[in-house]
Order: sequence, then structure tokens, then C-alpha cells
Amino acid sequence: MKQTILVTGGAGYIGSHTAFLLAQQGHTVIVLDLLLHDQTFNYPWATFIKGNCGDRTLLDKIFTQYPIDSVMHFAAHIEVGESVKNPLKYYQNNVANTLNLLESMLAHNVRSFIFSSSCAVYGSPESPTLSEDHSKNPISPYGMTKYTIEKVLEDLHTSHELQYVALRYFNAAGALPEYGLYEQHKPETHLIPLLLQAIHTQQPFYIFGSDYPTIDGSCVRDFLHVWDIAHAHAKALNHLEKGNPSDCFNLGTGHGISVKQMITQVEQITKTKLNAIIVQKRAGDPAVLVANPAKAHDILGWHPHHSDIPFIVQSAYVASMHIRDKESEKSHII
Ligand code: UFG
Repeated sequence: MKQTILVTGGAGYIGSHTAFLLAQQGHTVIVLDLLLHDQTFNYPWATFIKGNCGDRTLLDKIFTQYPIDSVMHFAAHIEVGESVKNPLKYYQNNVANTLNLLESMLAHNVRSFIFSSSCAVYGSPESPTLSEDHSKNPISPYGMTKYTIEKVLEDLHTSHELQYVALRYFNAAGALPEYGLYEQHKPETHLIPLLLQAIHTQQPFYIFGSDYPTIDGSCVRDFLHVWDIAHAHAKALNHLEKGNPSDCFNLGTGHGISVKQMITQVEQITKTKLNAIIVQKRAGDPAVLVANPAKAHDILGWHPHHSDIPFIVQSAYVASMHIRDKESEKSHII
């Protein structure tokens, strides 16, 4: 069935790729986004509304005006380090505004919800790969905000028959630059975009820590192409539509790569040497974060098809060149 889907944060990185896929699949997409990262939204495939989930009047208007069947909720602050320094900013946006959204949805009888959760709900890993039943002890306010909403969803499932899927992303990466879709955060804190910035500017790249108990002393992460994440959302939508139970799923490949190994990949693909300097560890970084994605394979029928590392890096590299060109156009106009 073709649905009308409200995508909050649909102008952001993962939200925009997912909104694009949903539109390609024939769904009607309404994007609600505050454009916090200075981005623009001029894609023809969605209706765009500027605003945030803290605005109950706006939400009620949207649910009255459009026949929304499902909500995909991407809008959130996403920086672990910042959340430690400024927890209220995170609890306000990621928790209070999400409660507001859920309240408005339920008031308008919308009961299908797909939530952007995170591997940060687990805290420090107790096993080499993380399954969904791993203990949840978030070590940052960011992780706690995601876990809190997962608990709220469980309660609303019981009290109001809310049907939901929470998708716990590991490391989203890559882009679809050929469709004008990129990873662009302000400020940028993520590994691959920062490596590519260092390539373009010939500035040093800083490796956060080199004495972790890993293959080469740098942290290990599980990188997943954003297009695979988008497809998992489409699968989650089908899962709920077919009346399957509400649930949580890891989204990862099950394979880790270290920061130093990623540097080698980036150097090979860009044919450019990086000046990588080892600095202090970043607070809150676990040594290894790798998913066990078996549950998403078995229950959602989801498998990543775009997440081999060279493809991820190549797509991010092309995207970084588009971003660089756009920025230089802007500076010429100014
Ligand atoms: N890193 C560097 N130098 C940099 C930037 C990153 O060495 O300049 C390292 C980090 O220390 C980390 C790895 O690269 O080991 C990946 O860092 P990212 O910031 O790209 O991503 P994170 O692993 O911190 O973030 C992921 C998810 C979040 C989740 C978090 C939980 O993207 O959603 O894990 O720890 F909350």
C-alpha cells in the first residue's frame, strides 16, 4: 500500500536519503525539518515544511491537513560529546520534542512509528558483537535519550496500541551524490567526512587514541552505507503494515574496521597521503562497536548491499567534492 509518511529531520543526512527512497517507492512524503545545519531542501519529491517537533500547533496542523499513515522520526541532535557537555539540549530535543510528536500523532489516531535509535543505547560492549538483547547502559546523555524513547514506545504500545520499529544504527556513512544527497553536518564530527576534508585541505587528521585493545590500537566501528539504512526503513514500514509485532533492530554489517584501516582505504581511493597525527582519546568512545545484524536479516528480511568499504568511501569522496564546490560557489556569491 502507498502511504503518506511524515519524515521528521527529512532534510538531514539519513532522513533525506530515506525520504528519497520512500518517494521513489511511490509513497507521499512530507518532510518536517528545522534546517539546523544550514542546508536547503529543494527536492521535488517531497512536500517540505520548516519547523520542529516541539511545535505542537504546527504538528496538529500537519496531522489535520495531511492523511498521515506513518511517521519516521529522524529529527534529533546526534553528537555524543556535545550531549555530555549540554545534556539539557539533548533531553529537550530528543526526548521532550519526541514526546510532543507522539502525543500529537496519537491525538490524530496515527499509530505507526519508525524511530531512529542508536547503538549508543548499549553503552560499553560486553561482547565482540552486539545483539539486541545486550544490556542497555547508555554512557552518554545522547544514548540515554534514545533509550528513553525506546522505553516510551514500549509503554505506548501497551497503552495506546502504537505500532513501532526502533532501528539502532551503527556508523552511517556514504552518500548518494548523484541525487544531490550528502552527509553534511555543521560542525562535522564524523570520521569519513573529516578524513575527506583533511584530504581536500591537506590539513592534518587527528586519530583519537592509539592504545585501545584492538588490532592496531585505534577504535573499531561498523560502517553501513546510508542507502542500506534507508532500505531498512522501507522494510520496517512493510513489517508494520503487515501487522508484525513492534520491535527493535540493529542496523550494521557485522564487520568492523579500525580508524587506521579506514585511513588506508581513504588514501587508496583518493590517491592522496594523509598527515595522520595521534592525539588523546575522545571521551565516551568505546574501543569496538560492531553489530550482530542477524535479527534484522531474519525478521525484516533486510541485508546491506551497498556497504563494502571502498564503495562507501568512494561515494563519500564524490559527495565531498560536490560539497566543496557548493561551498566555494557560496563564498563567491558572498
Ligand atoms: N575519530 C577520530 N578522529 C576524528 C573523528 C573520529 O579518530 O576526527 C574516530 C572516533 O574516535 C571513533 C571513530 O573515528 O573511534 C568513529 O567516530 P564517529 O564520530 O564517526 O562515529 P561514532 O563511532 O562516535 O558514532 C557512532 C554513531 C553514533 C553513536 C555512537 C555511539 O554514529 O550514532 O557511535 O558511541 F551514538
